[in-house]
Amino acid sequence: MTKTKDDHASFELGLGLAGNLDTLYIPIDPATDPEQLEASLRPAADILKAGGLVAFPTETVYGLGANALSPDAVRKIYQAKGRPSDNPMIVHVSTIDEIKSLVAGWSELADLIARRFMPGPLTLVLKKTDRISDVVSGGLDTIGMRIPENLVARYLIRLAGVPVAAPSANRSGRPSPTEATHVLSDLKGRIDCVVDGGSTTLGLESTVLDLTSAKGPRILRPGGVSFEALAQFLEEIGFPHDKSDDSWRLWLEGESNIDFPAGNNPQDIPKSPGMKYRHYAPRASVYLLEGDMKQGWNHILVRHAGAKVALYASEELRELLDPGQDIVLRVFGRKDQADLAAHDLFSALRDFDDKACDIIVVETIDLSELGRAYMNRLTKAASFIVNGDQIRDLRS
Ligand code: TXA
Ligand code: MG
Repeated sequence: MTKTKDDHASFELGLGLAGNLDTLYIPIDPATDPEQLEASLRPAADILKAGGLVAFPTETVYGLGANALSPDAVRKIYQAKGRPSDNPMIVHVSTIDEIKSLVAGWSELADLIARRFMPGPLTLVLKKTDRISDVVSGGLDTIGMRIPENLVARYLIRLAGVPVAAPSANRSGRPSPTEATHVLSDLKGRIDCVVDGGSTTLGLESTVLDLTSAKGPRILRPGGVSFEALAQFLEEIGFPHDKSDDSWRLWLEGESNIDFPAGNNPQDIPKSPGMKYRHYAPRASVYLLEGDMKQGWNHILVRHAGAKVALYASEELRELLDPGQDIVLRVFGRKDQADLAAHDLFSALRDFDDKACDIIVVETIDLSELGRAYMNRLTKAASFIVNGDQIRDLRS
């Protein structure tokens, strides 16, 4: 049952000393009409306005929101998540005009991209103005701006009447939450409120696109809007207008060999992910299968005889490996259904932890479309890559 605002009129906002806040839980019925939605979201909007922390659904993952214009409110996010304070946050708003009011140097290109992809799973990194504090930008002079497509998110932001700084609503280092239960398992008692809007549609985060480089738009994090979609759009609108400028193109951070407008090469799975630390990571060690997956799988089973093993795989790989009854198995769909692989990844990783698996074996897929974002998160969550009888340690 939803508690009313009055029940909570006097509760303490912010992180309690022992992290034992009374976290208000607001369930949203998907069939709710706009008026009911407003009434349900009002207490959460009031908490945001008053400087508290509210976790809410977006179409990508759940965000942990605070008033972006209040450095004190935003500091509580770092505390609740246990997140390093130099990691910049994305600011969520409900209209393009609001973005324009918070950034400097709005360009024709920014305008075209925003009008095509917003609302949606795209974050634009732009020069910030003084209205956004260094606490939000992690000391950078740029700021990531996003308009979520999820209606609950947009209503909440509009009702709060302030821009909302929100990283993913997980404890730092853990997989991003795709359901309210994930948020509660990481942050219950550490935040003021969680709005439960059901499971998120995409399952992994927005694409972060930096528009501040003179060399062209740069994808800092692949996500819900694919490289291919961005490349095609840039081609459609004829950017750059000056075709003689071949140094200007769409860049993928860490994959400099990918050329605009191509870049759909399944062979170029990043060979050295260069992940010095784990991220998006469950407690169990994650092993990526590439190359000869049957040989790799058998190799892992022999090396870890007696361990509780989980497998995240396509239907095709399940068929090939024919895992026994004692394997904790989750099949996402066919190998070419990158959207399904992406959608279930974080929830599968959390589920395997809940089932106390010792190791998690995950299939690698082609880099096209959402496969690129899936592979990006996987390589950050993984400890080992297994190819046939070769095991490479990614942790050093
Ligand atoms: O889908 C999403 O983007 C979700 C939902 C809640 O909107 N948010 C999210 O936030 O994933 P977070 O904080 O977990 O990840 C934001 C990423 C980080 O890798 C951060 O370093 C990068 O975006 N980022 C944010 N602002 C940036 C900036 N000004 N320059 C470079 N990178 C930035
Ligand atoms: Mg995150």
